[in-house]
Amino acid sequence: MQKQTPETVTIHVEKDFKIGEVDQRLFSSFAEHMGRSIYTGIYEPGHPAADAKGFRTDVLELVRELNLSHVRYPGGNFLSGYDWKDGIGPKEARPRRLDLAWKSIESNQVGIDEFYDWSRLAGIQIMGGVNMGTGSPKDAAELVEYCNYPGGTAWSDRRIQNGHKDPMGISLWCIGNEMDGPWQIGHLDAIDYGKKAREAAKMMKWVDDSIEVVVCGSSNAEISTFPEWDRQVLEYTYDEADYLSMHRYFENEGNDLDFLASFKDMDQFISTLVATVDYVKAVKRSKKTIGLSFDEWNVWYQKRQTPHDWMEAPELIEDRYTLLDALSFSGMCMALLNHADRVKIACLAQLVNVIAPILTERGGRAIRQTIFYPFQLFSKHGRGTALRPVVHTPLLETRHGDAEQLYTSAVLHEDGTLSLFCLNIGETALQAELDLRSFGSVKLCAHTRLSGEDLNAVNTFDNPFAVVPQQIPVSEKPAARFSERIPARSFSVFSFAPSETL
Ligand code: AHR
Repeated sequence: MQKQTPETVTIHVEKDFKIGEVDQRLFSSFAEHMGRSIYTGIYEPGHPAADAKGFRTDVLELVRELNLSHVRYPGGNFLSGYDWKDGIGPKEARPRRLDLAWKSIESNQVGIDEFYDWSRLAGIQIMGGVNMGTGSPKDAAELVEYCNYPGGTAWSDRRIQNGHKDPMGISLWCIGNEMDGPWQIGHLDAIDYGKKAREAAKMMKWVDDSIEVVVCGSSNAEISTFPEWDRQVLEYTYDEADYLSMHRYFENEGNDLDFLASFKDMDQFISTLVATVDYVKAVKRSKKTIGLSFDEWNVWYQKRQTPHDWMEAPELIEDRYTLLDALSFSGMCMALLNHADRVKIACLAQLVNVIAPILTERGGRAIRQTIFYPFQLFSKHGRGTALRPVVHTPLLETRHGDAEQLYTSAVLHEDGTLSLFCLNIGETALQAELDLRSFGSVKLCAHTRLSGEDLNAVNTFDNPFAVVPQQIPVSEKPAARFSERIPARSFSVFSFAPSETL
C-alpha cells in the first residue's frame, strides 16, 4: 500500500563538491561478431533500408540518437579466436570459419574496413581489440600497422589497396577479452596473460605511440580470482597499460528490490578495483594512475540462454527488456557518473540485437528497447563535471547491503546548467527537498521521468512505444530550493538553468 504522505528526503547539491570531469568515452557501446549484432543488425545487404554498402540506415538512425563516443569491436569472446586477416580484401575470397566462442559460422563479410566505414557513418570512434587467445603479439602489432600506419609497409599498403588511403587512427585498444575466464578461447592464468599482454602492448605502441591500451581485468566480481587477477596482471603490465577493464552483468533473480539496487554492487565492484589498482601503484612507486574501462555492462538474463549450434547469425541472447530492467539500468548509469574520477571508459554491452538497446527484425523493422531511453538520457545529460550530492534518504535492506531508496547523481554542464538524476527503488513515493543554494537562483526547465504501472511492460515491434520517458510539467519560478515528488519505482532527470540565462 502506498503511504498517503510521502517520506521526505533531502538532496543538497553544491557546485564545489566535484567528483571529476566525465570522460566522453563513458558513453560508449559494444558490437561483437555474435548472433545478429553485426549480420542483420547493422549490416544486411538486400534489406529495404540498406545503403549501397549493405548497412541498415534505419539502425544507423537509432544508433545516432544515442550519441556514442566509441564502439568496442569485434568482441567479446569472439575476439579470442578471431584472425583479423580473414576479414580484409575481396569479400568473395574471405573464408567462412567456425566461431568456437559462440558455436556459430562467421562469414567474414564484415571486417575492420567495413566496420570502420560504418563507424564513420554513425559518427562513432572504434575501440579496437586484439586477440590474446589464439593470436600473438605479432598479429596485434600488425593490426595496428594495418589500421594506423600511414603507408609504405606491407600491412599499411594492404589497407590502402582495400580502399582506405588515410590511416584509420584507432587510438584505443583492448589487449584481449576476459582472459581470466576458463570459457575464453586460449584462457591464461594472470601471470601468463600479464606477460603476453605486456609484450603485445609494447609492440603495438612501438608501431603507433599515440595509442592507449586496456588490459584485461576481472570479467565479473564473482569469479574466484577477483581481485587477485587484477593485481597480478597490473604487476606485469603497469608501465604499458593505460586502463584496466572490468565487466559486470545483472539480472533479476526474483527479488525486484535487490535487482533495482544493482547500482550498489556496481559501486562496490568499482571501489574494489580502484583500491587494487592503487595498491599496485604504491608497490611500484609509480606516478602514473591507471583508469578503469568498464567495457561491458548491462542487464543480461544469462540463465535464459538457448544454444544455436553452427548457424550463421543465429538469434543469440536477444533479451527483451522491461520497464523494471530499464529502471535498474538507470541506476547503473548513475553509478558510472558517481565514479567519473576513475571510470574513464564504459561500454554498454551491446548495441544491436545482442542484449541491446536496439532490436531488429531480419528484413524488417528496428525498435528502441526500454533501456534505450535511460542510456539516451544519460548520454544527453551526463556530460560535464560530476558532482557528489549529499542526500538523506531511507536505506533499504538488499542483498548488496543497505541501499539508498533514493539514489542520485548530478552533473554540472559547461553552460552552467545542472542535471540531477534520481532513482527511487522503493515501493513508496518520496518528497525530495532540493537545496541548490550554491548555484544562486535557478529555474527547473525540464523534468523527464521514466515510470509506469506495469513494471513488466516491454516495447515490441507492434507496440514500440509502450515504455517511453514522459515530460513532467514544471513550474518556471526561479528559486534556490525545490520540492519534488518522486514516485515509487521511477527514474527522473531534472534540468536546472541559472535563472538570468533564461
Ligand atoms: O557480451 C556478451 C559476452 O559477455 C562477451 O562476448 C563476453 O566478453 C562476455 O562474457
